[in-house]
Amino acid sequence: MKKPVYLDYNATTPIDPEVASAMLPYLQIHFGNPSSSYSIGRSNKEAVEKARAQVAGLINSQPEEIYFTSCATESNNLAIKGIAWANSDKGRHIITSAIEHPAVTEVCKYLSSQGYDITYLQVDQYGRVDPKDVENAIRKDTVLITIMHANNEVGTIQPIQEIGAIARQNNIVFHTDASQSVGKIETDVDKLGVDLLTIAGHKLYAPKGIGALYIRKRTLIENLMHGGGQEKGIRPGTENVIHTVGLGKACEVALRDSKQNHQNMQVSRDRLLNGLISQLGNQVHVNVDLENCLPNTLSVAFENVSAHTLASFISSDVLISTGSACHSGETTISSVLQAMNLDFRTAAATVRISTGKHTTKEEIDFTIEVLVNAIKKLT
Ligand SMILES: Cc1ncc(COP(=O)(O)O)c(C=O)c1O
Repeated sequence: MKKPVYLDYNATTPIDPEVASAMLPYLQIHFGNPSSSYSIGRSNKEAVEKARAQVAGLINSQPEEIYFTSCATESNNLAIKGIAWANSDKGRHIITSAIEHPAVTEVCKYLSSQGYDITYLQVDQYGRVDPKDVENAIRKDTVLITIMHANNEVGTIQPIQEIGAIARQNNIVFHTDASQSVGKIETDVDKLGVDLLTIAGHKLYAPKGIGALYIRKRTLIENLMHGGGQEKGIRPGTENVIHTVGLGKACEVALRDSKQNHQNMQVSRDRLLNGLISQLGNQVHVNVDLENCLPNTLSVAFENVSAHTLASFISSDVLISTGSACHSGETTISSVLQAMNLDFRTAAATVRISTGKHTTKEEIDFTIEVLVNAIKKLT
């Protein structure tokens, strides 16, 4: 049976063959504990340090500012709780946005239950935070600003550089969840002006189960876990060498191929959109400002078509996701689309299509054909 075309790369990516090859010796041969002082331990320690330098290379940080974790969720938890706890004597106010992933929102909700005060900034119709709103929300007791770099559902890129400058002027720690942007667009921590940045391995062709947190030198942070001295005690526990090697290689490959990958993802996304518009005309509604969007992401609504019905109708041919959930016949709109003030009909008709670095013209043309046929049948 022919495999369906995969166009849900914001959900996860396959492991890049170069990444898999780099990991294989650590799966089959090199099993030493990086903390052991004999050679098979030392060589695994060296592998972890090489990976740290590769990750740092992609985001323009120092290797010693990279801390390996198990996933982006863990990195976000470490960043947000770690900064909040380390600064609780200074204040208990955190600024975030209304369109964060649950891996940020739920952490904020938890802290709120522990006596922290959270400001959720509203966004414009395209899902963008206004830096002025950040500035206006700052209080004497603000200890952290956490705003994502690019949104997972709609692809909107936030004005991180401007927010970073505001955070710095006010001496407030600034974290960004860059799970969706690392490997797709430039994520230079100095240009962005961030103090902490979350990386998710499986969104950039490394395996699932590995992430990293960039922590700028001299940032005061408390660890979530207590144990051995791995990762300078900030994230103790014997290192996941195999996956760490994978993340390192994925970052090296992403940096090496960044221009070409960016172009391919964008050309595929734009070919898809143009193809759909040329056949469906104004039945196609684009939810975001594509000038300020990840190059691979298309959040689009097809008038009078239930996104859920459409996605499941085409799922043997093309895999995409929706901006709503459907339980027992009830449609619930995602918090991101709600924050963008999308009307119910448009939100319920919204799908997310996300291309990958190896998406081909043939896959896109096939997808256009499948989508157009399905939409014609369903309307
Ligand atoms: C923006 C963003 N943050 C965090 C996460 C959580 O990633 P993980 O489930 O790998 O921890 C995701 C995953 O979709 C994401 O898109």
